[in-house]
Amino acid sequence: MKSIIENTVNFVKEKLEGAEAGHDWFHIERVWKLSKKIAATENCNEDVVELAALLHDIADPKFHNGDETIALTVSREFLEGQHTPEEVVEQVLYVIKNISFKNRGEAPLHPPIELQIVQDADRIDAIGAIGIARTFNFGGFKNNLMYDPFIEPKLNMSKEEYKKSNGTTVNHFYEKLLLLKDLMNTKKGKEMAEERHHYMLNFLDQFYKEWNVD
Ligand code: ADP
Ligand code: NI
Repeated sequence: MKSIIENTVNFVKEKLEGAEAGHDWFHIERVWKLSKKIAATENCNEDVVELAALLHDIADPKFHNGDETIALTVSREFLEGQHTPEEVVEQVLYVIKNISFKNRGEAPLHPPIELQIVQDADRIDAIGAIGIARTFNFGGFKNNLMYDPFIEPKLNMSKEEYKKSNGTTVNHFYEKLLLLKDLMNTKKGKEMAEERHHYMLNFLDQFYKEWNVD
């Protein structure tokens, strides 16, 4: 299994060459490391956790015209080429399919622990200082406004509205980032999210203070 993981690292690095900076190999590397940290505190299949962390953004629908099946096809083909046992392939694909924030309305009622772990790791990388940096980078990539005091955040958007939203980057904090702390699955994930959550609240306070020059 060790060599499959090494080959996956190389495959993902190559595939994500030139990706938007918030969804590039370094995001994957952080999520992989965070996943391993959380996995060490849970009873789980660590191979499934590592492979799913490495492959979870291999073909993000945001960058593939909304197509949610490419990541599954690409991952299956790659893992089968590595002679990965079918039950591992199935579990990895299940995590990739269900990890996304925007699909949380369709989430399984009792998610397997491997999904809970990688989802927590991906969400931890979406908050705190890194989360702030990724979010402004993505907003810039989309040419969205940083902030507009006259545009209100839209809570409870449907999946379609969320995907189409070209609201401001500051609003994305209220529409997603600040909600993540309470959506963490694991005890370790909850602990790690706490500090990063407060860091974002402080950031927003300071942002409004500096915006409102008097
Ligand atoms: P998922 O991939 O879990 O469905 P998202 O698509 O919501 O999650 O986004 C992943 C990351 O991309 C977010 O954490 C954020 O950094 C960035 N992002 C997504 N949508 C926006 C947006 N409208 N404005 C700014 N950043 C965004
Ligand atoms: Ni991700």
